[in-house]
Amino acid sequence: MKLAIEDVYKSFDPFTASSRRFVLRGVTLQAAQGEFLSLLGHSGCGKSTLLNLVAGYIKPDRGRILIDGTTVEGPGADRGVVFQEYALFPWYTVHENIAFGPQVRGVPAGTAQEMTQRYIALVGLTGFEHVYPDALSGGMKQRVGIARALANEPTVLLMDEPFGALDALTREAMRQELLRIWLQVRPTVVFVTHSIPEAVALSDRIAVMNLRGTLEGIIPVDLPRPRDSHAAQFLEYVKALEQMLMVDRKSSATREPAALSEE
Ligand SMILES: Nc1ncnc2c1ncn2[C@@H]1O[C@H](COP(=O)(O)OP(=O)(O)OP(=O)(O)O)[C@@H](O)[C@H]1O
Ligand SMILES: [Mg+2]
Repeated sequence: MKLAIEDVYKSFDPFTASSRRFVLRGVTLQAAQGEFLSLLGHSGCGKSTLLNLVAGYIKPDRGRILIDGTTVEGPGADRGVVFQEYALFPWYTVHENIAFGPQVRGVPAGTAQEMTQRYIALVGLTGFEHVYPDALSGGMKQRVGIARALANEPTVLLMDEPFGALDALTREAMRQELLRIWLQVRPTVVFVTHSIPEAVALSDRIAVMNLRGTLEGIIPVDLPRPRDSHAAQFLEYVKALEQMLMVDRKSSATREPAALSEE
């Protein structure tokens, strides 16, 4: 298995002897090599927490996360991360932003140059190499974000609501772009979203998370790509996922991570 999340618990509360509130409570989930997996759930259900655990930015309280059978102990070049807020260096050009990773990793200058040009072309930014992020639209900034993550040649691409800040039309276009890039490079993708249609449009499988810190279910999306979001079958997936997420509607007004006795 490319990625294995095994019985992971995570709390941000300071430890107390009697109880502890868990954002994630025994999450087990796998992703196969080259799979497009989405994490779907209401705000606060722990999607980013799970992604940050896989990225190695934070550690689980219990359980473990493995990439190619090796336990994740921290961030690594095998995992590329794309955030909603782009997180580009404003004082670097498009080219410099994308070349940064390979340079830090010690890739020889000539190779880094070639890789940077290749990923600039892949995300459709040829001609914008010397532009600064401030002069780019949101969609273009996110293209830089994707190219920058891919320039480290990660085998797992982690994306936390990467299109959340974009307008509807740009967002739709970027979904298509992401699919094209994914098919070309074929990394394993873990994609966080709270948009049901976005999850259905993109994913091989959708892991639905709930506000109790567990997985509500895992839905394989058995539709050929590109997917028509108006097709009856597509809408059936949307409806089924809406129903799964409905479980949380009642509790979402008093959103509190589940409490659990510690041993
Ligand atoms: N560093 C932290 N310190 C304390 N609490 C945190 C921290 N990170 C997350 N939490 C809490 O954990 C819960 C899950 O947060 P998380 O950001 O993972 O949710 P999410 O599903 O990504 O939500 P959204 O869709 O709004 O981004 C929330 O209650 C949040 O307040
Ligand atoms: Mg989040």
